[in-house]
Amino acid sequence: MVPFDCCIKNAKIYLKGKIVEGGIVIDHGKIVKITKDTSLIQSDHKMDAKKHLVLPGCIDVHAHLRDFKLSYKEDFYTGTCSAARGGITTVLDMPNSLPPTTNITILKERKRIAKRKIVVNVGFYAAIPSSIDEIYLLVREGIFGFKLYLHHPITEIDVENDEELTKYFSEIAKWNTILAVHPDDKTTIEKNLSLLRNENLSSLDVFLKTYTPEGEKIAVERCLKIIGKTGTRLHVCHVSTSDALRAIQNAKERNLNVTCEVTPHHLFLKTSDFEHWGAYAKTLPPLRTQQDIEILWEGLRNGTVDVIATDHAPHSVEEKEKGFLEAPPGIPGFETMLPLMLTMVRRGKIRLDTLVSLTSYNPAKIFDIKNKGEIAEGFDADLILVDMKKEYHIRPELFLSKAKYSPFAGWKVEAKVVATIVNGIMVMKDDEILVSTGSGKIIERYSSW
Ligand code: DOR
Ligand code: ZN
Ligand code: ZN
Repeated sequence: MVPFDCCIKNAKIYLKGKIVEGGIVIDHGKIVKITKDTSLIQSDHKMDAKKHLVLPGCIDVHAHLRDFKLSYKEDFYTGTCSAARGGITTVLDMPNSLPPTTNITILKERKRIAKRKIVVNVGFYAAIPSSIDEIYLLVREGIFGFKLYLHHPITEIDVENDEELTKYFSEIAKWNTILAVHPDDKTTIEKNLSLLRNENLSSLDVFLKTYTPEGEKIAVERCLKIIGKTGTRLHVCHVSTSDALRAIQNAKERNLNVTCEVTPHHLFLKTSDFEHWGAYAKTLPPLRTQQDIEILWEGLRNGTVDVIATDHAPHSVEEKEKGFLEAPPGIPGFETMLPLMLTMVRRGKIRLDTLVSLTSYNPAKIFDIKNKGEIAEGFDADLILVDMKKEYHIRPELFLSKAKYSPFAGWKVEAKVVATIVNGIMVMKDDEILVSTGSGKIIERYSSW
């Protein structure tokens, strides 16, 4: 009998909400067998999991891998190494690159460059193109969703005009593709800015009074109203306020087609953290209040929140040092999301099965990512090994991301990702990347089209 490629033995395997001791047999990048006894399995490689927990790799549906002209912030190689280090085996890349992903020529170029560099699976979003006919072409090229920045559109869309939005929403619904929105409101932001003009406020106050909870709520409610008519699959990115989450919860109760995500920084940090971290904690939406944080955690536990995503948004230290108002918003998140969340599992704040649903199972289901998000026979061997007893301090200077800073610097976490396997290949072990560039796969939605 021809031996299998690899067998992981001595593992505590997360199987549909239960922990089972045994092994996983991998062949040609797929999980072919999950078995209690691996002693008779013939394989080229045997790996001893040393009783560590084996979880499905995280699927991060919201990240900015940059590259192209923003390679100084991050590139496909450093970004995906950082993801692998954090236990993320699949990343969906946002379209606000330079040039942005607004048409199939740029999308194809992005795939071509990424293919040579990535070490995990990568799929792409596109911005809603100005030309409505381009929507189908982008869907046919395998994008996982369209992204709309409601406060600051990438393309020439009149985001203040409901009729115009309805037209685009309807076209996206026609192709049954996700529409991911950055929920803020251009009109509200402009109104806030004009009111602030004559006030003598600190940079931080200007920022907080510009990007208000009200803007987020208005944006969410507008989108919900439109999808009530168009049926578009709406995914609300990085929900940060209790009001927005409540609106989403109500919409779900009315059976609207809506899902949402939260980020670790909105779950763990609040407005007062800006005082210590300054621009290094600057992000959009801003950090909010303790009350918002509590409602978001409640949303994780009661199923209102569908996904945890990093919104990994790296910038250079020079940019972050420009002063609070000038510094670009964004926090690197790949290497901190899972250790932070697993720490909360250890402390009893969230159940492990809830976490795995939020980071693996639900993202795969919502974004139609085939054969991923679960440990099951026939699924891709995207797996992570986790030491649930290892405690360490977050040290951004050791990040594999180019953005070597974090508002979580110095935090003690109580679990560590010790190995990351992508399509059956051991990509990261004990903090080291073991593969060369380009070992990851570009993934496409409906790849059979
Ligand atoms: O904080 C943010 N950073 N929010 C965004 O919407 C964009 C992102 C980025 O690309 O840096
Ligand atoms: Zn955003
Ligand atoms: Zn983002």
